[in-house]
Amino acid sequence: MASTGETASAAPSTHRELGTWSTVKASVENEIAWVVLNRPEKRNCMSPTLNDEMLEVLDAVALDREARVMVLTGAGEAFSAGMDLKEFFRDTDALSPVEREIKQRSCFEWQGPRLRQFPLPTIAMVNGYCFGGAFHPLGNCDLAVAADDAMFGLSEVNWGIVPGGNVPLAVAHTMSLRDAMYYSITGETFDGRKAAEVGLVNESVPRDRLRARVLEIAEMMKTKNTAIVRGTKETVRHIRGMGWTEAENYINAKFAEALYADAEDGRAQGLKQFLDDKSFRPGLEAYKR
Ligand code: COA
Repeated sequence: MASTGETASAAPSTHRELGTWSTVKASVENEIAWVVLNRPEKRNCMSPTLNDEMLEVLDAVALDREARVMVLTGAGEAFSAGMDLKEFFRDTDALSPVEREIKQRSCFEWQGPRLRQFPLPTIAMVNGYCFGGAFHPLGNCDLAVAADDAMFGLSEVNWGIVPGGNVPLAVAHTMSLRDAMYYSITGETFDGRKAAEVGLVNESVPRDRLRARVLEIAEMMKTKNTAIVRGTKETVRHIRGMGWTEAENYINAKFAEALYADAEDGRAQGLKQFLDDKSFRPGLEAYKR
């Protein structure tokens, strides 16, 4: 599979590294944070070290004053080949259950609640192989765009485990039961076009358009009010398992929380720019920030 070019090429002037990690690269460029799983020789499979580092990286992005959108992708041929079968599984077999839990918990933490509750909108840019455990962070990014020829597979069944790490829920939340079941019990691979067709990603594009399309979406998200996007994404994600009454209560609470958290007072600005200044139309664009 061809490389995406997501390598350490000459940095544009606005490019700023967020730190130094052994398995992840993270930088901010024009208000967009690029988080790159960086073990291309191991197809970016996720080891305990990578999982520990991702917790630090997510904090660094969340704390960055410039970043308004985060893109998660992989270096080289893979988005991620899932959990590291050696370092995450075999090497932890001899540990006690508690030792193993401690060694593995950063995985569940960053791929699950930390991504779901991430303060900025997140976009998974699926540039290549995406297997097994990689479906967990994929499902917990807000948006996902794949290369047409990316290769997906729920390969757990092929090597003798039930999918763990909340992969089944990530799959069940995006695909229909029939598709989730088919790909989970057969382990059959599918490409980016199919991933878009079954709802696992928003869309797939030719490989040479992947970065440009993700940039277009990220640029659009930059124009939105971050506090309101956060309240909206949490609402859309969390009401899925609720009944009508719980959802109404949750939505009301999130509605109020987002207005309280919004330092820009976007609601007042939006109303003024539309009703008084007549300088924008909310049906067509975001208010001028
Ligand atoms: N865990 C541990 N090591 C992995 C890995 C994983 N999930 N995925 C790839 N690697 C390692 C390989 O062992 C190999 O290491 P080596 O060079 O030291 O021998 C290296 O990465 C390259 O892998 P290779 O299989 O030679 O690359 P490929 O391009 O021919 O195939 C894949 C790519 C992704 C199809 C193949 O590596 C694979 O099937 N990986 C496992 C995917 C999987 O089932 N993940 C689910 C885990 S829950």
